[in-house]
Amino acid sequence: MDKLLIRGGSVLKGEVAMSGAKNAALPILCASLLSADPLELGNVPQLNDISTMLRLLGDMGIGVRHEGDDGLTLDGSGLNNPVASYEMVKTMRASILVLGPLLARCGEARVSLPGGCAIGARPVDQHIKGLQAMGAEVTVEQGYVHARASRLKGARICTDMVTVTGTENLMMAACLADGETIIENAAREPEVVDLANCLVAMGARISGAGTDIIRIQGVEKLHGARHSIMPDRIETGTYLCAAAVTGGDIRLTRTSAAYLDSVVDKLMDAGCEIVVERDAIRLTAPAKLKSVSLRTAPYPAFPTDMQAQFMAMNCVADGVATIRETIFENRFMHVSELMRLGANIQIEGNNAIVRGVDRLEGATVMATDLRASASLIIAGLVASGETLIDRIYHLDRGYERIEQKLAALGASVERVR
Ligand code: EPZ
Repeated sequence: MDKLLIRGGSVLKGEVAMSGAKNAALPILCASLLSADPLELGNVPQLNDISTMLRLLGDMGIGVRHEGDDGLTLDGSGLNNPVASYEMVKTMRASILVLGPLLARCGEARVSLPGGCAIGARPVDQHIKGLQAMGAEVTVEQGYVHARASRLKGARICTDMVTVTGTENLMMAACLADGETIIENAAREPEVVDLANCLVAMGARISGAGTDIIRIQGVEKLHGARHSIMPDRIETGTYLCAAAVTGGDIRLTRTSAAYLDSVVDKLMDAGCEIVVERDAIRLTAPAKLKSVSLRTAPYPAFPTDMQAQFMAMNCVADGVATIRETIFENRFMHVSELMRLGANIQIEGNNAIVRGVDRLEGATVMATDLRASASLIIAGLVASGETLIDRIYHLDRGYERIEQKLAALGASVERVR
């Protein structure tokens, strides 16, 4: 199994381009299920999760054609098998995003129930509750969600908590429903807006995406469209943290600060200088970072997907930081690994208290999930000696060509067996 070997001590400098957003691309690929016409996509990141989703869609009869490095054409005319098997879903929870569009287009769907994952139980009860509100008959048999509806009906749905893929699933289902659907307490994440923009380009009637009330007026059918996936704000934030922790000076292109306010604010609180351009961001780090406390919450608050990276930064900052995780009940798996590198972290319930130390020391550590692996890379970049990260398959799920991009910024990073 591949591992990543990092020799610490390099100061990151230079320029690198960011990729399209994983968490926008995944639901947008599923939007291809809603129409018999071709959907042409650009800026699609090359990630294991994207390949998994394309295999899943292919199994259902969706035609997939790659166009150049980051282009795709998806053809929904051959959709004939509305089933997502356990084998596929167990490798990627986001497969649940086929449920709403399949039910809306085919009148039925059979999707394996995603189990829990390293960061939490992650139930999908709100997805099911919303589809039932739209008149679907939903049962769970032998570990599969089985949903049927001759045609979904518009409904008012208020989710018990803000759920990103829940909002996306229900928004896609409502596009072909009879009447108007109102989703209250909707997720406001930029990836939800990017999906809504793609659906509107396909002929959907959606208003309020980006707010906590989304209205969808159902239509008979959707047509083909062209859409370019938004930049990945979490990839961008990860590289900014990597530069900050090494005392570096980098410029990230093909991205935007528009979706990163809470992250940029915290980096400036830590002492970084940030210059925002139309589609680029430059960060210049101070000689010594200051500790910054934070609390994760739904957008536009601080993203849970940046929590681990900021924890790594606080490990070598000046002072004490409290990190509160409010979204997932088990998202501190990286703490014990960071402590193997010499970090000083104490967990109290859903709070982690991080006391900055003068230096970290390289060691062998294990990645437990996607963002945890990013935090170990950030810590490894500043640790003395070598850090060997095991189980980096987690990383390949969400970061495109990370060792090449880090090397382009001057890091000493190598994939080893
Ligand atoms: C999305 O997951 C992202 N994944 C996650 O990114 C991200 O961490 C998360 O949103 C929060 O921002 C994708 O977009 C593919 P939720 P999602 O439903 O939609 C509870 C990464 O690193 N809940 O917003 O699965 C749930 O357990 C990944 O790229 C229910 O109880 O998250 C959690 O505590 C990790 N019932 C909270 O709500 C439901 O039916 C928020 O989860 C749905 C959710």
